Amino acid sequence: MGVADGSVLRAGDGMVVTGAAQGIGRAVALRLASQGARLALWDVQPDGLAETAELCRKSGVDVLTAKVDMGEPSDVVAAAKAVGAAWSAPFGFVSNAGIFPRSPILETDPAVWERVLKVNLIGAFLCARYLGPMMVQAKRGAAVMIASGRALQGTPRGAHYAASKAGLVSFTKSLALELAPQGIRVNCVIPGVTETAQPLEDSTLEEVRARGSRIPLGRIGQPEDIAAGVAMLLSADAAYMTGQSIALNGGAIMLP
Ligand SMILES: NC(=O)c1ccc[n+]([C@@H]2O[C@H](COP(=O)([O-])OP(=O)(O)OC[C@H]3O[C@@H](n4cnc5c(N)ncnc54)[C@H](O)[C@@H]3O)[C@@H](O)[C@H]2O)c1
Repeated sequence: MGVADGSVLRAGDGMVVTGAAQGIGRAVALRLASQGARLALWDVQPDGLAETAELCRKSGVDVLTAKVDMGEPSDVVAAAKAVGAAWSAPFGFVSNAGIFPRSPILETDPAVWERVLKVNLIGAFLCARYLGPMMVQAKRGAAVMIASGRALQGTPRGAHYAASKAGLVSFTKSLALELAPQGIRVNCVIPGVTETAQPLEDSTLEEVRARGSRIPLGRIGQPEDIAAGVAMLLSADAAYMTGQSIALNGGAIMLP
């Protein structure tokens, strides 16, 4: 068996998906459930989590849910322990939970800046810190981070968000380097504008969809587009890929 074979998701493997109550996280959970993965779904919204879990169970897979605030280390420690108790080791995780409170830099409360960094970036570190040791012990696994095109371009009224997402691109590389000797791969998806609640926080659905006219492929993304990229990164087709970020944005931003 090649080193990379242990980093390919198989039916029955257990995946943690953060921010799974709606949007991209829900689509990722459904996609992985359709492939037979067991799931641990973490989010701050119990109702949305319960709905996602019900939808996933229709694929016949086991689903755990936990109310986890990714900005609270003690929540992540407790949820990671529950995962270890249920499965002995998770195969991996998708760090997807994210917040984007719009705010110009010169008016941003430092506490808001800190909160964004905690949820979006430190949350991913906490997944690695408390799920990673179990993956290393099992000597197999893979992880995917969900960043954002704003990491590449910056954004007005979202410097904290853009910085947190740029941090995820960098964190992906360092984690990939540290875990590669254990046969564990780590990659990152950089979504463009995707039809979920997040862009609707400051625009109407019509305005968000209209952004598709400036995208080479002529439409904004759907959560399933991003879930497909996550599934690809966890699959045998990406067995030789680690530390990379792929942009899924209809061609809106093209990486070198
Ligand atoms: N939708 C887009 O256009 C877009 C573009 C680029 C990147 N992203 C990223 O994709 C990811 C998913 O976002 P989405 O578009 O599905 O938006 P969303 O707002 O629909 O989903 C975000 C999910 O994260 C959860 N969450 C928020 N704070 C949390 C916390 N402290 N702990 C745990 N869970 C928490 C929310 O409850 C929600 O279920 C985010 O990281 C977002 O930044 C989205």
